[in-house]
Amino acid sequence: MNAFDTLKQVIEGRRTTKPAQMNGQKISDEDVKEILALADWAPTHARTEPWRFFVLTGDNLQKFCEHHADLYWANTSPETRTETKRDALLNMGSKASHLVISLMRRTPEAKIITEEEYAAVAAATQNILLGATAKGIASFWSTGGMTHHPAMKLYLELKDEDLLMGLLYLGYSDEQKEGMRKIPLDDKIIWV
Ligand SMILES: Cc1cc2nc3c(=O)[nH]c(=O)nc-3n(C[C@H](O)[C@H](O)[C@H](O)COP(=O)(O)O)c2cc1C
Repeated sequence: MNAFDTLKQVIEGRRTTKPAQMNGQKISDEDVKEILALADWAPTHARTEPWRFFVLTGDNLQKFCEHHADLYWANTSPETRTETKRDALLNMGSKASHLVISLMRRTPEAKIITEEEYAAVAAATQNILLGATAKGIASFWSTGGMTHHPAMKLYLELKDEDLLMGLLYLGYSDEQKEGMRKIPLDDKIIWV
């Protein structure tokens, strides 16, 4: 298979797999390190390399999920919060192997606008998902729960100008998922 066909297979084969569909099997830290090394090759305007990652596994992953559920409960009004949602956050990591928290760290002196630094982190994040796919690892890019809430930033001790890109749950899954796109590709492209 040539490089394009291999890449196409990986890109088209990447699917969002919710942690509930993972099977609890552990990924080796070595595999996660190799995947994160791919993130480091994302494009970066003015070479600010704004991607940063927290990697959690085992007890620390479980503790994060507990904190996430607590943050949700403490920061959501009694009228809107639900125990179902709290339990979902609490159990989010129980069948995943690793959680990579992907975030943007600004280099203000480089004068690159935030959108461009965030775009670079999105590219780095996609590299993680593709690296995982190539290794047969399932992934879930989540911005659910308290991901974008100021309380999460506080909890992670982020700087004011930092931005969370997402919570990336990684694990193995026994399920095969079909891809689906709603808008035809031709409707998204104008050749001039
Ligand atoms: C920035 C971003 C945030 C996302 N957050 C969530 C989320 O919170 N919950 C969720 O179910 N899926 C989330 N997703 C995954 C999408 O639901 C998923 O990509 C979409 O359904 C297409 O499926 P595919 O990834 O298998 O192609 C997110 C994706 C992106 C790019």
